[in-house]
Parts: sequence; structure tokens; C-alpha cells
Amino acid sequence: MKAWVIDTERDLRLRALGRHDAEIVSQIAARAFGTAETGECVRRMLRIYLASGCADIPLERQEHTLLPVTYYILVQGEASRERGIGLTGLYRRLWEEEQEGNYWLGWFAVDPDFQGQGMGERLLRATMALCTAKGGRRLSIETAPELQSARRLYRRLGFTEAPAIPDYWKEGSDLILFHRRLDGNEFHDLLPPKGISL
Ligand SMILES: CC(C)(COP(=O)(O)OP(=O)(O)OC[C@H]1O[C@@H](n2cnc3c(N)ncnc32)[C@H](O)[C@@H]1OP(=O)(O)O)[C@@H](O)C(=O)NCCC(=O)NCCS
Repeated sequence: MKAWVIDTERDLRLRALGRHDAEIVSQIAARAFGTAETGECVRRMLRIYLASGCADIPLERQEHTLLPVTYYILVQGEASRERGIGLTGLYRRLWEEEQEGNYWLGWFAVDPDFQGQGMGERLLRATMALCTAKGGRRLSIETAPELQSARRLYRRLGFTEAPAIPDYWKEGSDLILFHRRLDGNEFHDLLPPKGISL
């Protein structure tokens, strides 16, 4: 399976998530978010995702769903002995004008064994570059106040935080939005090579 090398030195690759990745990605999510429920939720979502046909069509060409989406897995090493490190995703909303270029970040996490080494930053930058390549002009993120490390990362990469809905996730946990404009020239050093379908 073709993958985009996003870090040559560390042999990090990003590729669209396939059927055989569902279990490892669910485990990464459970470990990163710290609850078995989150792992189960990701497992359930991926089952629906894989059955929906979205995984087989690039996000910008999905017209059979109101929420075009693609999930990706970050892996380290060659295909035969690669190790799953993290996950990311992009989605958009079909009812919004395409030319506005509004994209959203899907499940985003790094395996705790690999956190604190810049993997998250690399993965988010690659996701932003990929989004730009797909015509994205703004990337928005839904998150929660307790995800402190993620919030620091979003601020560090230039996202603006906007408080949204109080007690949305549960009592005391608000829905928080981050958003950022994307400029096509910004990622010229980090763009998926032609011929790799992501
Ligand atoms: C958010 C998340 C993806 C970040 O992943 P990560 O790989 O740890 O990210 P980075 O390594 O780029 O940055 C994390 C920290 O390590 C630091 N760091 C990066 N490289 C480093 C290095 N070589 N040496 C020491 N520290 C380093 C960063 O400065 C950052 O510090 P800070 O948290 O004090 O700001 C990860 O914490 C995670 O999976 N969290 C749970 C899931 C989650 O919250 N997802 C977001 C949902 S909206």
C-alpha cells in the first residue's frame, strides 16, 4: 500500500486507513485518550466508516454522504514490519460551499509510548498540508478543555481557540473549537507526492 513519507529521518509514513488497521487504531485511541470507552467508540465508528465506502474514495470526491471523511494512520517503518504510532482524519460537511474550503480535523491521537517526541506536531502539520492539497482553506477542530496537551499543540501551530458550548461533553466539559486559516504556500516543503492517493 502506498504511503506518504512525512519524516525521512524517523521513517514516519502516513497512509489512508484500511480494514486491517481498525484494531490497532482503536487501541491507540484507547491508550491516548485513556479510556476503553473511547477505544470502543473509535472501533464502532471505523466499522461504520469502512462499511460506508468512504475509505475507498478520496474525501474531496465523496458525494454519497453528508460528511465526507478520510482517516489516516501514522506508521513507522517499512510495510512488512511497520508499527502504528498515531491517527488523524479530515472531514468536511457537504452542505457547506466547497469553494469556502472548510475542513475539520477527525480523530487525532498519538500512542502514549511515542508522545513528547514531536510526533503530534509532525502529524498535525502533515494533516494541514494534506488538507491544503485537497483545497482546504480553513481547518477547524472540536475539542474539550481536559485535552491540555492537544490544546497546547493547536495553539503552538497557530490555531485560535474559541469557547463554544458549555457542558457539551458532560457537566463541566465544554465543547471548544479551534480554527485556523490555511495558506497554500505555507506547506510547500511538506506536500504529498503525486501518485499517492490520500
Ligand atoms: C495531543 C497529542 C496528539 C500530542 O502528541 P505528541 O506526540 O505528544 O505531541 P508533541 O510531541 O508534538 O508535543 C507534546 C509535547 O512534547 C514536547 N516535545 C516535542 N518534542 C520534544 C522533544 N524532542 N523533547 C522533549 N519534549 C518534546 C512538545 O513541546 C510538547 O510540549 P507541551 O505539551 O508542554 O506543549 C497527544 O497528547 C494525544 O494523543 N493526546 C490524547 C488524544 C487527544 O487529546 N487528541 C486530541 C483530540 S481533539
